[in-house]
Amino acid sequence: MALWRGRCRKRPGLVEVFTLTLFSLRGPAREAGRFILGLETSCDETSAAVLKDGKEILSNVISSQITTHQRFGGVVPEIASRKHMENITGVVDSALEEAGIGWDDLTAIAVTSGPGLVGALLVGVAYAKGAAMARKLPLVGVHHIEGHIYANLLTERELSFPLLCLVVSGGHTHLVRLLEHGRLEIIGSTRDDAAGEAFDKVARALGLGYPGGPLIEKLAREGSIEAYDLPRAWLEGSYDFSFSGLKSAVLNLLNRAKQRGEEIHKAGLAASFQEAVVDVLIQKTCRAARESNAETVLLAGGVAANGYLRERLREALAADGRRLVVPPLILCTDNAAMIACAGYHRLMRGETAAVDLNAVADWPLGT
Ligand code: KG4
Ligand code: ZN
Repeated sequence: MALWRGRCRKRPGLVEVFTLTLFSLRGPAREAGRFILGLETSCDETSAAVLKDGKEILSNVISSQITTHQRFGGVVPEIASRKHMENITGVVDSALEEAGIGWDDLTAIAVTSGPGLVGALLVGVAYAKGAAMARKLPLVGVHHIEGHIYANLLTERELSFPLLCLVVSGGHTHLVRLLEHGRLEIIGSTRDDAAGEAFDKVARALGLGYPGGPLIEKLAREGSIEAYDLPRAWLEGSYDFSFSGLKSAVLNLLNRAKQRGEEIHKAGLAASFQEAVVDVLIQKTCRAARESNAETVLLAGGVAANGYLRERLREALAADGRRLVVPPLILCTDNAAMIACAGYHRLMRGETAAVDLNAVADWPLGT
C-alpha cells in the first residue's frame, strides 16, 4: 500500500477496532468542529485526515491505488472497493497518529457519501457510520465535488463571497457560483465527457497509461501547441462544456495516421490537445467571472493539478484584474482534508446525517 504521508502499520481489522472503542471512555465534550476526522473513498484513493477548527490540517494521509489499476488502464470498481476495505483501518490509524490525537479527541466525522463508485463510497460511509455510532460523534455526509471546492478554503482562509469556481475533475466539469456557504449555483456543466475523462481517454489512445492527465501534461512540454489543429466546442451563449468532439478528433487523427502508415508526433498532439481543453476552460471561466462580477476565481478538482492550466488561467484572469486561488497539488487530487473542511462547514450549518446515511453514486452538486 503506497501512502502519501505516514506509514500504515498492521492493525486489527475493522470489527476489532469498533469493539475496542466501545469499551474505552470518551474524552471530555468539545465543540463539534474542533477535531474532525475526514474520510474519502469515492474512487481510487483511500484517505483520512484530521482537521482542527475547520482550517488547520493536522494530517492528510492518502493511500493511492493507482499502481493496482494501472495494468487495467483505468479504475476497476470491484478492485477499488476491496482495496479500500483493506486500507481504511490503517489509513485512519495513521491519520490519528500523525495528528497526535486519539479517538477520544475527535469531535465529528465527515465522510464522502457521493458521488462516486458506489461500492467504494460504501466502504467509507460504513466505516464512518460505525465509528460515529461507537463514539457517539456527529456524522456529516459530504458531496465529493463540494470537497474539491473547499480545498480552496484550506489554501486561503479569507475568501469573501460571491466566488466563482471552475471544477475540473475526472468525472465532473462545472462552473459554479458560490453565493455563501451551502449555496451553490451551477451555471455551466459538461454535456458529455468531463475534462479529466478526456485527458484519460486521449492518454490511453496515445498509449501513455493511467491516469492520463499528468502523463499528457508531461509529454506536452516537449511539443508545440500548434502541431495539430484541433476543434473547440464553444457552445456559444452557454457556460456548458463539451469535450467528446475533441476526443473523437484525436482518435480519428490517430486512426487515419495508422491506416496511412503516417507517423504521429505524440508530444505535439499532447500539447495541441491540452491547449484545446485549456483554451475553452479559460475563455468560459473569464467570461463567467466578468459576468458574475467575481474578483476571485477558484480552481478545483484533479485537473487543477495541471500546471499549464493553472498558469494560463492565472494570467488570463490577471489581465482582467481578477485573481486565481488554486490549492497546492496534493489538495487538488482526491484527499480527505478537503472533505473534512466541507464537512466542517456543513456541521456549522447543523447539517448532520443520521445513521441511515447512504452512498449516493450520482448525487447532483448543490442539492
Ligand atoms: O478529482 P480527481 O482526483 O478524481 C475525481 O474526482 O475524478 O481527478 C482525477 C482526474 C483524472 O482524470 C486525472 O487524469 C486528472 O484528474 N488529472 C490531471 C492532472 N492530474 C490529475 N489532468 C491534467 N493534468 C494533470 N496534471
Ligand atoms: Zn475528485
